[in-house]
Amino acid sequence: MAHDKQATQYDVVVIGAGAAGMMCASVAGQRGRRVLVIDHATKLAEKIRISGGGRCNFTNLHAGPNNFLSENPHFCKSALSRYTPQDFLNLIKRYKIAFHEKHKGQLFCDESAEDIIRMLKAECDLGKVQWRMPCGVSDISQGEQGFLLQTDQGPVSAKSVVIATGGLSIPKIGATDFSYRIAKQFNLKIVDPRPALVPLTFEASSWEPFVPLSGISLEVDIETGGKKDKAIFREDLLFTHRGLSGPAVLQISSFWHSGQAIRVNLLPEVDLAQELVDAKTSTKKNLANFLASYLPARLVDGLLQAHGFDGNLKIADMQDKRLRLLGERMNRWELIPNGSEGYRKAEVTRGGVDTRELSQQTMEVKQVPGLYFVGEAVDVTGWLGGFNFQWAWASGVAAGQVV
Ligand code: FDA
Repeated sequence: MAHDKQATQYDVVVIGAGAAGMMCASVAGQRGRRVLVIDHATKLAEKIRISGGGRCNFTNLHAGPNNFLSENPHFCKSALSRYTPQDFLNLIKRYKIAFHEKHKGQLFCDESAEDIIRMLKAECDLGKVQWRMPCGVSDISQGEQGFLLQTDQGPVSAKSVVIATGGLSIPKIGATDFSYRIAKQFNLKIVDPRPALVPLTFEASSWEPFVPLSGISLEVDIETGGKKDKAIFREDLLFTHRGLSGPAVLQISSFWHSGQAIRVNLLPEVDLAQELVDAKTSTKKNLANFLASYLPARLVDGLLQAHGFDGNLKIADMQDKRLRLLGERMNRWELIPNGSEGYRKAEVTRGGVDTRELSQQTMEVKQVPGLYFVGEAVDVTGWLGGFNFQWAWASGVAAGQVV
């Protein structure tokens, strides 16, 4: 390659100082590689900073390949098995960062997500990693000996380039389509990106009865899909002004496709149809009061209105058929979202660089030696609960060990 004479030379340039990029840079630096990290943001790892409500759900003790969505579900196995939640936990413990398990294996910092950023920065410092921030990259070209990058702070050359610029979620804090643009430049296939782990919305007129319920939260079973592709989660559901959110809906949103229904069991442990019929002989209560012993009263009012039931009716006076219908509606409430809150609110981007283009051991592009994609840029998307960071760490390490 006819390298520009003034280009500063590195062994590795990592573009993106987020979770995967910093992890990759620290591992490569500590192997003695000369590493430069470039990011267009002024601050390191903004997403880590805001993650987990500021406490960063940094991994999940139970993380395994089944917790990830991808067109090729096997792809993530190798990296995940070689860098496990326990490996990251050992790092956390070495830095004496206090943490706790919230539920279902989700590990959070006791104090602040900043602890994780400081730890990754310290790990990079141990590897003498260099930084260009804020700094954009306008061009990447490939020659016989490596890559030449044009940056806002002058050209740099490197044998390896790692693209760690993430997905499209939360453009406000710096998300761009950089990884997909570079993928296209090198003729790599991309699995259509779309918002995931995102609140779902409903047509305004059909949502009207539920608007006053905004803020109500309850544990539900939520599912979507059919026999072959059914996904189901038991998590908290949150009513919002425009639709549904909370962990339950964020989880199911990653599996949901436009036009599909979601089904919510508002009382997963109760066969409400049976309870209502049984209550005919044992209660003098009206429908609204009876249901209020199972669900928040405001929610009962909204649901009865939406399903066309009069809450003042005495249960004893109602036909079994009507009671069963109501019970089934509560145990299997079917809704069709009209969309999602989009990248503005999505925690991650589903899709990305097609994994068939990459080595599952190293994240290197099969057709372009020296070019790597790690983290959320790749078509590997974790469930809610610390899985996305575990993928960022594991894929970052996989590349960091070989670049
Ligand atoms: P990441 O997005 O972290 O980093 C990409 C970097 O590239 C950024 O620093 C960005 O500035 C830079 N960049 C982008 N475009 C560029 C360009 N054109 N030029 C130069 N630099 C560029 N996950 C989890 O496991 N537990 C959790 O608690 C949470 N919580 C959470 C909350 C919220 C609000 C969001 C939005 C997301 C989460 N996530 C999460 C998801 C998690 O944050 C995400 O999956 C990882 O940060 C992905 O790591 P990456 O390193 O791939 O991208």
